[in-house]
Amino acid sequence: MSYATVDLTPTPEDKFTFGLWTVGWQARDPFGDPTREPMDPVLAAEKLGELGAYGVTLHDDDLLSPLLTGDEREAAISRFEKAVDAAGLKIPMITTNLFTHPVFKDGAFTSNSRDVRRYALAKVRRNLDLAARFGATTYVLWGGREGSESDAAKDVRAALDRYAEGLDALCDYIVSQGYDIRLAIEPKPNEPRGDILLPTIGHALGLIDRLQHSEMVGLNPEVGHEQMAGLNMVHGVAQALWAGKLFHIDLNGQRGPKYDQDLVFGHGDLLNAFFLVDLLETSGYAGMRHFDYKPARTEDSEGVWRSAAANMSTYLMLKQRAAEFRADPDVQAAMTAAGVDSLRQPTLNPGETVADLPAITEVDVEGLVRGYPFVNINELAIEHLMGFRG
Ligand code: GCO
Ligand code: MN
Ligand code: MN
Repeated sequence: MSYATVDLTPTPEDKFTFGLWTVGWQARDPFGDPTREPMDPVLAAEKLGELGAYGVTLHDDDLLSPLLTGDEREAAISRFEKAVDAAGLKIPMITTNLFTHPVFKDGAFTSNSRDVRRYALAKVRRNLDLAARFGATTYVLWGGREGSESDAAKDVRAALDRYAEGLDALCDYIVSQGYDIRLAIEPKPNEPRGDILLPTIGHALGLIDRLQHSEMVGLNPEVGHEQMAGLNMVHGVAQALWAGKLFHIDLNGQRGPKYDQDLVFGHGDLLNAFFLVDLLETSGYAGMRHFDYKPARTEDSEGVWRSAAANMSTYLMLKQRAAEFRADPDVQAAMTAAGVDSLRQPTLNPGETVADLPAITEVDVEGLVRGYPFVNINELAIEHLMGFRG
């Protein structure tokens, strides 16, 4: 077989989106000053449009100081709207900054201060109105400061009650306004808190199930966040899809359990990224491919755009290689030999119950022991990924 020539030029049909806070990151970190100048959101929109992105996303405070009101606020919003339109972009998702201001040091929806909790909900309310104006249908909630460093500091069961109360109240508000918006929770295990509530996809799914408007709340999993917890992003995303809860996704790269690196997509665990793209592209997921990465601290302003483009071209390379992997008869034979398809068959016959199963003493258990050539499948994936089967 031979490989198709991959066109690495993204188009809006690819549904690639970027946060203003990604390309606009000045590379300030806990140890050092910024390496880049602040970026005008209008420039970000222009450049992302030129690069072939579908849309741009933002926190309220990325665009507007929280203190702006009246005409000044309106002027800043409409200036940005015009730039987004002119760049041919959409704003499919927005989110709230509930972490920069020191008022949020102990959290937002789960702060031990009731007044802070009320302020946080009002901050989200104002930005939901903006989301509706922009036509954004997904609203991400990343609870970065919902958590603790001391186990005595936070009554976790009460915190989960307040988290659920906040989400239910926001859904009530969305319904009351007639907005077409769904909420997407973004799990993260730690940073900036020692331990963050809803640390993984599974934890968040557990909470969502108990909400009054659970149908309006889903997930925005991030590659690096699951990997910071030592977890497999592909398994997590598959479970979110299985639950009908993959509303959005943050794609980036991470090299194992350490601080949140936000590398370019694929620049961490490349094989896991390959299988993630394979999953997204074969599952019918129709949502955004949102890159939540940070241009490296060592990049200059040109490097910002090269790195933004790298996210998209890496995705497109992986998409092409994953399609070739799926179409390869050797891969299909290896999957059949490994029983991958057989798992789709129900374990019991129609009408059969566990009581109908034969006694285990009647089963030739030794005869059931077999090999599963999974390593072969993995090696075939690597051969495709590396361009060795073309
Ligand atoms: C992080 C998070 C954020 C969120 C963003 C949206 O670890 O910093 O990933 O980048 O995605 O704040 O709320
Ligand atoms: Mn992150
Ligand atoms: Mn994120």
